[in-house]
Amino acid sequence: MIAPSLLSADFANLQRDIERVTAPDVTDQQADWLHVDVMDYHFVPNLTIGLPVVESMRKITDAKLDCHLMIDDPDRWAVGYAEAGAYNVTVHAEAVRDPISVAMDLRAAGAKAGLSLKPATELDDWVEVLRSYDTLLVMTVEPGFGGQTFMPDMLEKVRRARRMVDTGHLNLVLEVDGGVADDTITAAAEAGADCFVAGSAVYSAADPAEAIARLRAAARR
Ligand code: DX5
Ligand code: ZN
Repeated sequence: MIAPSLLSADFANLQRDIERVTAPDVTDQQADWLHVDVMDYHFVPNLTIGLPVVESMRKITDAKLDCHLMIDDPDRWAVGYAEAGAYNVTVHAEAVRDPISVAMDLRAAGAKAGLSLKPATELDDWVEVLRSYDTLLVMTVEPGFGGQTFMPDMLEKVRRARRMVDTGHLNLVLEVDGGVADDTITAAAEAGADCFVAGSAVYSAADPAEAIARLRAAARR
């Protein structure tokens, strides 16, 4: 699955940029999930969009909104995104206080529950918690900004998570986020990722829909 990140879209033309990746007739050019990066100036040194914008987006698209909350105190805020109609809501392991209740609240509100690990956060410390989750988001850059360089060291984390899924220890969609492009997505796919977030690789391209098809082809290579 390809999840274009709206962080690299034009915030003054969000509807246009959403339609660019959801409206193509060619299936390979269509986004599977629409990745929405929520930042609060506290968990990360950047500020983006929040709940009112997600609520507005929900009204103009049927796309599966994948909200990545890079915020402090997700225990308080995450469920609001589920109630706003997000398909998947991901909180950060480093910020969440009661990850099991958050996952239960998200599911009760009709969303899938995601947990994200920053590069320095070990998978082993979160395996038990991940039994309550639907998605694992492995950060392949430090969260906060688009356009950074993919960290190949993170592939081992993806491989280990893949093994836990394949052996039935966990049941998760494995998502990677950060620096995913034509030249890095193949390795991420080989490591076992299912879902690829791509911001600059999609929205810096002349034709974002064609960029999605190219990424998909490279992931299958
Ligand atoms: C970064 C965000 C990413 C970002 C990825 O903290 O979580 O979703 O948009 O951007 P690229 O694909 O440009 O690395
Ligand atoms: Zn993200």
